[in-house]
Amino acid sequence: ALPASVEALVAQMTVEEKAGQLTLMAATWAGGAATALNPIAATASFDEQLAEVKAGRLTGVFNGNGATMARRMQTVAMREQRLKIPLLFAADIIHGFRTVFPMPLAEAGSFEPDLAERTARAAAVEASAAGIDWTFAPMVDIARDQRWGRGIEGAGEDVLLGRMMADARVRGFQGRRGLTADDAVMSCAKHFAAYGAGEAGLDYNSVDVSERTLRDVYFPPFQAAFAAGSGTTMASFNELSGVPATANPWLLDTVLRDEWNFDGLVVSDYTGDMELIDHGFAADAREATKLAFMAGVDMSMQSGFYIAHLPDLVARGEVPMARLDQAVRRVLALKVRLGLFDNPFRRIDPKRETTRVRTKAHLALAREAGRRSIVMLKNDGDLLPLPRSGKRIALIGPFASGQQNLIGPWNVYGSDADAVDLLTGVRAALADPSLVTATAGAGVNAVLPGGIEAAVAAARAADIVVLSIGESQDMSGEAQSRTDIVVPAAQVALAEAVAATGKPIVVVLRNGRALVLDGAVRNAPAILVTWFLGSQSGPAIADILFGVEGPSARLPVSFPHATGQEPYHYDHKSTGRPNGPGELKPFKAHYRGLPNTAAFPFGHGLTYGRIEYSALGVGDGRLTASGALTVTATIANRGTRVAEEVVQLYIQDVTASITRPVRQLKAFQKIRLAAGAQQTVSFTLRHDDLTFIGLDLKPTVEPGRFRLWVAPSAEAEGVAGEFTLV
Ligand code: IFM
Repeated sequence: ALPASVEALVAQMTVEEKAGQLTLMAATWAGGAATALNPIAATASFDEQLAEVKAGRLTGVFNGNGATMARRMQTVAMREQRLKIPLLFAADIIHGFRTVFPMPLAEAGSFEPDLAERTARAAAVEASAAGIDWTFAPMVDIARDQRWGRGIEGAGEDVLLGRMMADARVRGFQGRRGLTADDAVMSCAKHFAAYGAGEAGLDYNSVDVSERTLRDVYFPPFQAAFAAGSGTTMASFNELSGVPATANPWLLDTVLRDEWNFDGLVVSDYTGDMELIDHGFAADAREATKLAFMAGVDMSMQSGFYIAHLPDLVARGEVPMARLDQAVRRVLALKVRLGLFDNPFRRIDPKRETTRVRTKAHLALAREAGRRSIVMLKNDGDLLPLPRSGKRIALIGPFASGQQNLIGPWNVYGSDADAVDLLTGVRAALADPSLVTATAGAGVNAVLPGGIEAAVAAARAADIVVLSIGESQDMSGEAQSRTDIVVPAAQVALAEAVAATGKPIVVVLRNGRALVLDGAVRNAPAILVTWFLGSQSGPAIADILFGVEGPSARLPVSFPHATGQEPYHYDHKSTGRPNGPGELKPFKAHYRGLPNTAAFPFGHGLTYGRIEYSALGVGDGRLTASGALTVTATIANRGTRVAEEVVQLYIQDVTASITRPVRQLKAFQKIRLAAGAQQTVSFTLRHDDLTFIGLDLKPTVEPGRFRLWVAPSAEAEGVAGEFTLV
């Protein structure tokens, strides 16, 4: 229930003021030009937007321009608007504010929910100081097709990791001191639902997945986010088996409200209601408004449809006043929860806006998160770590140096200019910085004039080559689907030429998704996946290159052999004709000439140690409905350097009334092992861990045989055994 004073406002509001509370627009400000983020808002001037605030036709704005702008707008709302309802300031705080942290997919690879919570917290501390109350994050969409560019914002292909990261990020944004704290930011679990399942990896494309798959795969991270306290969600752009999510009563009412008892707010995505017309679902703006609103979208983002059409729809009895009041109460409740009625300026502080951002602690956290997000795919002959003196190093490739492609996509407030590049990071790590040179050789998509010759000369003059290649940051993110997830041809040509020199090569990939690696890139003795790591990109990579810390992240998405395998996810079904490991068998499930396994699977990542798995224990091999099964394994580091291992527990339900995946991750632990040390890792499996969505579309568990692996990746054997659920 709303406090009496706020409830009293509902009674006083006109229908237009109510529709105004349901209308969110991108911010514009005096002198603000059209931007990619705000193409529509920029058509209204700041003064026009202030007039809307004054008239009570706007609930708030998003992706604005900081505390000064927010203060001006809030002052108008509090002084000049009839009912003095505070504005809400929202923004896409996806992976940091002014301090930029690794892209969320990269950070998921740390397998450290605690780290994700800490970076989300730091982002909220910075953003809230600039007046932001509400972030459109975390994105909790499971993404199993690497052609899709928006996978960068999520936690990858796995449901358990997706749930844990959703939980951590919500807690991080919202903080532990309650939502009225001046550094708490309300989260928004998005995009509801199955936005990551667009056909052929094409952004915005149609989704046609079964209700079982929705419940088994795509819903759980949302449920985790709501359980962690996320009070808002965003309806996704896609249609879901013929009904757009933005006008889908089954999704937004039956599941979200009736089944899950979600009492928060649903916001549309950017012009999502308007897009019902292009979906071919609504004839015009009026019908689109009615369909979205009656399906359960409480707040309209950016189209202006609600303020334009709800008053008339209510006047003609096509939308009940009760539904309007319900949505208004949800918005006011959000403003109450954020403490805005008590103090509309609590997060707006131009002084804090400058002192709380890019602090030493936040930059140190960015470096820590960066290095803990780096995955080592290969390290033949222990080429890494590199010595810090005595060797000449040639950094080669488009990402070797320069203030671009560092922070990654979807960062509204950070800047590449403030980030540290690879060359600077490597120089700072070396005893003698003159031992390193940087040569681009190629741009992202084209070889530079004389570039190959210069790169080859630089390689010849060096002892070791660090080849920094991959994707530019505009190749992933929203609307950046790719048909072929390869390293662009010009860069492969560069790699081939450099490899021909015979110098040892460390490939340092910059990438927003899993990539297909071939030729000289795949054959390089050492490969690091460094994604987009944010403000401290260069130092974080240098920390791993020179062994300040060992690589400890694991792939949150499988790297396939070929793009044609996409969508690929390790927890696929067996089929009736599994090919099995080894050679390609006739009339079995594989492609011509290629196994349908990953080149580098989910969970894979090497350390600077030498890790061995042994001594699996599964108790008496029987799990009862109310009991627990203790699974143990011994993990040893036979190497000469400390190592951090992500020990992963997978199961397979061998026979069930619904076919089950070949493996599913059920638990993991990240452990640190000194050289020569070993540790017995213990997991507890319970009945609930074995649940799946059954024939009746409800969670079920069936007794029977289960296979189990404690392993270093989803496709590695590790140590394997069995148990029975009785
Ligand atoms: O929050 C985003 C969403 O993820 C994609 N469309 C635009 C929104 C607001 O910027």
